[in-house]
Amino acid sequence: MNFQFLKLQRIEAKNKPMRAAITAVGGYVPEKILTNQDLEKMVDTSDEWIRTRTGIVERRILEEDKATSDLCIKAIEKLLDKRGISAEEIDLVIVATVTPDHAFPSTANIVTHKIGATKAWGFDMSAACSGFLYALDTGSKFIESGKHQKVIVCGADKMSSIVNYKDRNTCVIFGDGGAAVLLEPSQDENGIIDSVLKSDGVGIDYLNLKAGGSKHPSSHETIDNDMHYLYQEGKTVFKFAVTNMAEVSREIMDRNNLTGDSVDYLCAHQANLRIIDATARRMELDEKKVLINISKYGNTTAGTIPLLFSDFESKFKKGDNIVLAAFGGGFTWGAIYLKWSYNS
Ligand code: UT7
Repeated sequence: MNFQFLKLQRIEAKNKPMRAAITAVGGYVPEKILTNQDLEKMVDTSDEWIRTRTGIVERRILEEDKATSDLCIKAIEKLLDKRGISAEEIDLVIVATVTPDHAFPSTANIVTHKIGATKAWGFDMSAACSGFLYALDTGSKFIESGKHQKVIVCGADKMSSIVNYKDRNTCVIFGDGGAAVLLEPSQDENGIIDSVLKSDGVGIDYLNLKAGGSKHPSSHETIDNDMHYLYQEGKTVFKFAVTNMAEVSREIMDRNNLTGDSVDYLCAHQANLRIIDATARRMELDEKKVLINISKYGNTTAGTIPLLFSDFESKFKKGDNIVLAAFGGGFTWGAIYLKWSYNS
């Protein structure tokens, strides 16, 4: 037996950075469907316009008396069931959302309590459509540092709570839904490998929700001026999104010596089919590798990327190279490179 060799191996293993791996996913969308035809009766729009400009056919709408935490709870229950673990084993819950149940306490606080995660702490993360990427990267650090063994990262939004169904510019785009992933220490080389996350406050004028915060607290005036509804200057956001999402996806590929051939799947934020196509072209990806579910759910903000995981989980094989990419309000944007860690 070569003891020197064994010793070296042990030192090498000890010095290897711990990776966080996604070990289970769970997704949830409400049952109620709002189709393009339904919207034709509500605003001056057409199924043809919505399909060709966005790729959306229908979206889901949560019951009025339910909140974002309900989306998270349903998704997390599925995840725990799949992994065969109890909520008491969870160390931390991070919820990415721009539609929290309340200004405070955090939605994560409500979720940990309701699922019975008695040992866990939690917090919300606000980065609009990039929220899941920000939260996934943050959650992975708690695993990598060795502080936690089981972290849940949830991306969920009840967009119907902030959408003006009289504004055709925005009401055709958004939907409700959410999904969650479980992060655990990786047993091999698979897991979350790299991230590039960015933000630029120049975006505030083009995509925002003006009232309800400390700058414009709720008042008769804010309600009369529709300031509690999401506002988007679509064309400008489109220009920023199309350039930056493609740019950051290319950056993460180049940093990790990935090519269009070696990337197995792109899971991109589902805001607009044309933005996803532009990103895929820049990555030189075959269209079969580009995962799409925007037609079914529209833009669920922080929910889109984890919902892709839950819809396409059965396609993923252990070791697959997956690139995640998003662009959203803030502006915020980024990309994450991970190697999938299990066969389902
Ligand atoms: O997820 C967060 C980040 N968000 C995004 O990435 C969204 C980025 N933006 C977009 O996806 C697109 O800009 C939209 C889908 C929002 C809009 O598509 P567009 O091709 O940029 O349309 P537009 O805003 O330039 O509007 C073109 C025309 C306008 O009419 P005129 O001025 O040319 O006569 C709009 O009034 O389409 C009109 N229009 C509509 N027509 C029918 C706008 N909304 C609608 C509608 N139905 N729902």
